[in-house]
Amino acid sequence: MGKVLVIGSINMDIVISVEHMPVGGENVYVNDVELICGGKGANQAGATAKLGLDTVYFGCVGQDENGKRLIDTLQQSGIDTSYMKVKDGGSGQCYIIVEGDGQNRILVSPGANEKMTVEDIDQVILPLIPELDMILTQLEIPLECVERIVQLGKEHGVKVFVDAGPIRGCKAEQLRGAWCISPNETELGALVERKVQTEEEIVKAAEELLALDVECVLVKLGGSGCLYISKDERIRQKSYKVNVVDTTAAGDSFSAGFAVGVLENKSTKDAIDYATKCGAIAVTKKGASPSLPTKEAVMNFEKEYLRNETL
Ligand code: RIB
Repeated sequence: MGKVLVIGSINMDIVISVEHMPVGGENVYVNDVELICGGKGANQAGATAKLGLDTVYFGCVGQDENGKRLIDTLQQSGIDTSYMKVKDGGSGQCYIIVEGDGQNRILVSPGANEKMTVEDIDQVILPLIPELDMILTQLEIPLECVERIVQLGKEHGVKVFVDAGPIRGCKAEQLRGAWCISPNETELGALVERKVQTEEEIVKAAEELLALDVECVLVKLGGSGCLYISKDERIRQKSYKVNVVDTTAAGDSFSAGFAVGVLENKSTKDAIDYATKCGAIAVTKKGASPSLPTKEAVMNFEKEYLRNETL
C-alpha cells in the first residue's frame, strides 16, 4: 500500500445546527453548537489514513489550545504529524451552519493556514519525495504553496491530486502539471474563467485543463455524482442515495477515496466508485472528522447498500 503526503488546511470547525438559515433581519434559534476538528487538508489526511494509507500530513496550526487538539485528533488516526508547524497567532477556524436538510454554509477564518510558505513546502516535500506515491492538496492554503507542490511533484515524478476548493481566484495555468484536478462545476468555471453548466461545457472546460499537462479531471457534481475526463476515458458515475445529515467533508472524503482507489491499483472506474462511496458515507454523519470513512465503513456500506437495493 502506498504512502501519501497531504498538504493543506486544518481548522477547528464551530458547527452550528439550525432548522433554516436566517434571512436578513431574522432571528433564528440554534439547535446545537459543537467544536469539531476539520479543515480540507486535515480531513483528506484523516480519510486516507482511515482507509488504510500510510499518511503524512503537513499543515500549520497556531499557538492556541485548538492547535493542540487538532494535532491530537490527527495523531489518533495514526497520521504522521512530525512535519507540522506552529505559527504565530491562532489556528484556522470555520463557522459552519448546517440546516435541517444537511446543506451547509461555511465561513472561513484562515489563521495559521495562511502563514504556510513556499519554504515550508520545500522543507517537507524534498526529504520525503523518494518515499511518496502521491501528494494531495487543496486551495485553502496560499496559492503559491499549491503551485510549488504541483511543480515539485511534476519535477520528481510524483502524482499531485489537487482538490480545487475553495477556488479563491485560482486560474487553470497555476495548476499546470498536476496529475489530477478535482473541481466542482463552479470551481471548474472559475478555473477556465467562464460559466460551465451543461455536460458538454464541463467536458470542454476539462479538456482545456488536460491541455495543461494534466492527466485527468474529476468533476464533482454533488448529488448527481461525478464526471471523470482524461485523454482516453470519460466516466460518468452516479451518486449513492443516502440519508443526508451534513455534507461537510463529503468532497474531502471523495478525494481521499479516489487516491486510495488509484493507489490500490483499482481500475479508474472502480476508484471513482470507491470515492463516491466514501463521499456518501461522509454525508450520513455530522461534522468533518467524525464522518470520515474507514475501510470497514466502506465494506459495510457496500453490503448494506446492495442489500437494500435488491430488497
Ligand atoms: O471541506 C470541509 C471543510 O472545509 C471543513 O472541515 C472546514 O474546516 C472547511 O475547511
